[in-house]
Amino acid sequence: MKRKRVAILISGSGSNMVKLVESMADSGHPGEAVLVLANKAEAGGLTKAEALGVPVAVVAHKGKTREEFEAEVSAVLEAAEVDIVCLAGFMRVLSAAFVREWQGRILNIHPSLLPLFKGLDTHQRALDAGMAVHGATVHQVTADLDAGPILGQAVMPVHEDDTAETLAARLLPLEHRLYPEVLARFAAGSRGRVALFA
Ligand code: GAR
Repeated sequence: MKRKRVAILISGSGSNMVKLVESMADSGHPGEAVLVLANKAEAGGLTKAEALGVPVAVVAHKGKTREEFEAEVSAVLEAAEVDIVCLAGFMRVLSAAFVREWQGRILNIHPSLLPLFKGLDTHQRALDAGMAVHGATVHQVTADLDAGPILGQAVMPVHEDDTAETLAARLLPLEHRLYPEVLARFAAGSRGRVALFA
């Protein structure tokens, strides 16, 4: 079967992106990393992607309307003949029009157990809510923020002395296991859910 062409969109350090790219290095993987795209030239993940031999692109959002920015992103994705778009620490909300264009082909990783704590500051909000567990979710992206069908979740305990920083640091290695596992299944055509426990 032809491997799915995967683009990864980042805004920052790109640690999830690195794990996704590494997971696709095996030629038996149903996906192939063909592009890493950042919305900022200073995104730390860009040099990591280059070191991994993946083509990179920057489409800056600054100074553009959402429509202009997204039209440019779409053009770059289309030129690379992308089949699947993985958002990995990509901190721009995508419009309904963009999501419609890439319908059923966009995944996102979010640092909470959705549908809890959509949006930002997820770790602090989990602490404030008195949660005994916390986690991350990979889901399909739809026009509603952080609300598309869930494809996998990773769960870990919250400790008495946890802070937003310790939660984030403990969650990241779980995200690094979860996202590649979900992507491998998704690229192979499965929509079954992955459950991981710390
Ligand atoms: C990850 O924790 C990811 O879940 C989160 O940003 C971090 C990115 O880390 N994503 C969001 O908050 C999306 N709204 P990374 O750049 O090192 O992969």
